[in-house]
Parts: sequence; C-alpha cells; structure tokens
Amino acid sequence: MRGRFIVVEGIDGSGKSTLAARLAEDLALRGRRVLRTREPGGTRIGERVRGLLLNADHSEMVPLTEFFLFMASRAQLVEQVIRPALRRGMDVVCDRYYYSTAAYQGAAGGVGIPGVLHIAEKVARFERPDVVALLDLPPATARARRSGPGDRVERKGLVYQKRVRQGFLSIARRERRRFRVIDAARPVEEVFRDLRKAVDRAL
Ligand code: TYD
Repeated sequence: MRGRFIVVEGIDGSGKSTLAARLAEDLALRGRRVLRTREPGGTRIGERVRGLLLNADHSEMVPLTEFFLFMASRAQLVEQVIRPALRRGMDVVCDRYYYSTAAYQGAAGGVGIPGVLHIAEKVARFERPDVVALLDLPPATARARRSGPGDRVERKGLVYQKRVRQGFLSIARRERRRFRVIDAARPVEEVFRDLRKAVDRAL
C-alpha cells in the first residue's frame, strides 16, 4: 500500500522544520515507517542546485530562474526519493514542496500561482500530497524568532514575506480539501498538538 504523503509549508521562521521533524518522530513512535525530507535539496544533484539558489553572491538572480531551479531540484527529489518511498509504503514528511514555489516565486516573485501549479501538477506530474499543513503567522512575528542575516531568499524583506504569506493563504483557499491552516503564532507545543490533530484527521 502507498504510504501517506504529508507536506509542511509556511513562511521563513514559521517553525516548519522543527515541527516537521517532530511530526516525523511522532509517526515513527506510532509504528509507521517514516521518511523526512527537505526542500530544496535532498539529493546529490538537488543539493548542488540548492547551492546555486541560496548563494548570497547571486543577487541578480531573477524569479524565473529561481522557479526553474527549484523545480529542477524538486524533480530529482520526487523521482529519486519521494516516489520510491511512497511505493515502499513509507510515510513521507516533506519540509516544503511545490506550494513554496507557488507562494515565493509565483505570488511574491510575480511568476504567477496558476502557472507554477500547472507546471508542477500537469506537466511535471509531481506526486500529490495527502495533506498540506500550512503554518500561518505574520512575517513580523516570524522575523522576531529568527537570528542571523539569513540566506539570499530570506533576505528579501518583510514586504516579500507578506506576499509569500498571502500566496500560501490563497492556495489554501483554493485547495480546501488538502490544506489545513494552523495558527503558528503560538508556543510550539500548542502548534504541534494542532498539527498532529490536523494530520490524523486528514489521513
Ligand atoms: P529552506 O531551506 O526550506 O529554509 P527554511 O529552513 O527557512 O524553511 O528554504 C530556503 C529558502 O528558499 C526559504 O527562504 C524559502 C525559499 N524557497 C523558495 O523561494 N521557493 C521554493 O520552492 C522553496 C522550496 C524554498
């Protein structure tokens, strides 16, 4: 039987990576075989593409280039890691997926949400998740949690992050069946409890 495919999405500083790790641990404790993976990267080629994307030196990179690079990295990840694991019956917990590209490059970068979703779903035919947990909070709250200068994408500022957030919320409204929006501006324990509940209910 195909495993369950769970995606965790959110803006920078939403606590996504911590919560995806906890969710994967929790599923494993409950006897599931779980694979956790991150975007971009997760494969040898994907990690190299990630290097190009996040290099602070590449300040002239345009959104369309980012779009193709994120999609390229993801194509490797889907083919080499996600699809085989699901086929083996493992649950896959993915920290970001093509909805990130739709929100960042599509909504905030101006490439357009519909175009990104069309390529991901109809052209690339990426595996569809069973549930997408969107950790939602205001970018100013998220920023206050972070330290350090961040990578190239993270440094684009609050206005950019606000557009990313609106992008995620608009995709969630279009895909009510798949998406669960979780208020992430709370202590991590509370957010995790809701995340676990949302995933259990959806699966
Ligand atoms: P990631 O490594 O997931 O960072 P974090 O741990 O902060 O979630 O992603 C790095 C940056 O790349 C982050 O600012 C989000 C951005 N990004 C995109 O712009 N488009 C994408 O498709 C993905 C996957 C990430």
